[in-house]
Amino acid sequence: MKLEPFYQLDVVLVCGLPASGKSHFSERFFHRDNRKRVNRKEIRRNLHQMFEFGEQWKEEYFDNSDEGLVKHVERRILEHLLHSGKRVLVDNTSVSVSSRKSYLAIAHQMQKSIGVIFLNTPLKRCIERNNERALHVPDVIIANLSAAAELPRADEGFDERLIINEY
Ligand SMILES: Nc1ncnc2c1ncn2[C@@H]1O[C@H](COP(=O)(O)OP(=O)(O)O)[C@@H](O)[C@H]1O
Ligand SMILES: [Mg+2]
Repeated sequence: MKLEPFYQLDVVLVCGLPASGKSHFSERFFHRDNRKRVNRKEIRRNLHQMFEFGEQWKEEYFDNSDEGLVKHVERRILEHLLHSGKRVLVDNTSVSVSSRKSYLAIAHQMQKSIGVIFLNTPLKRCIERNNERALHVPDVIIANLSAAAELPRADEGFDERLIINEY
């Protein structure tokens, strides 16, 4: 696993299916890299808890009509951090080419370097790990995302690209 080139980048996108190990991997290899972590799931959960007077988030509360706001907040956070010269790690599912485009656009607009690390953990293992978690995503969501997943391609626009098949 050649991670050295990623430590130089302004933006590192860690993507993969739910429970593929993104947050675990990110903390293990990038916590000490002096970069800020941004996680869409935590923005979603924190917005819910704020709106609902502290009520705890459950995955079944997921509402697609809130996603525009979640993405907007995520974008503003990324722009803010990059404007102030910080390096960031984006910990988000982003398994399709189209879902990675917004991160490429932000980085390119701001003339920042960006790399992608795709945790291509087998679907079966993701489902097992998902079911061991307190807040688990419905299995069907993971299966649908798996069917729609596209490994990062050389022509997508990332400065560095790494696919990890067993994490
Ligand atoms: N390499 C690993 N070894 C052991 N446990 C792992 C590993 N990767 C992930 N896990 C565990 O699997 C679960 C899902 O991982 P997580 O990082 O939360 O996934 P994601 O952020 O992709 O949804 C967590 O309980 C985590 O501790
Ligand atoms: Mg996570």
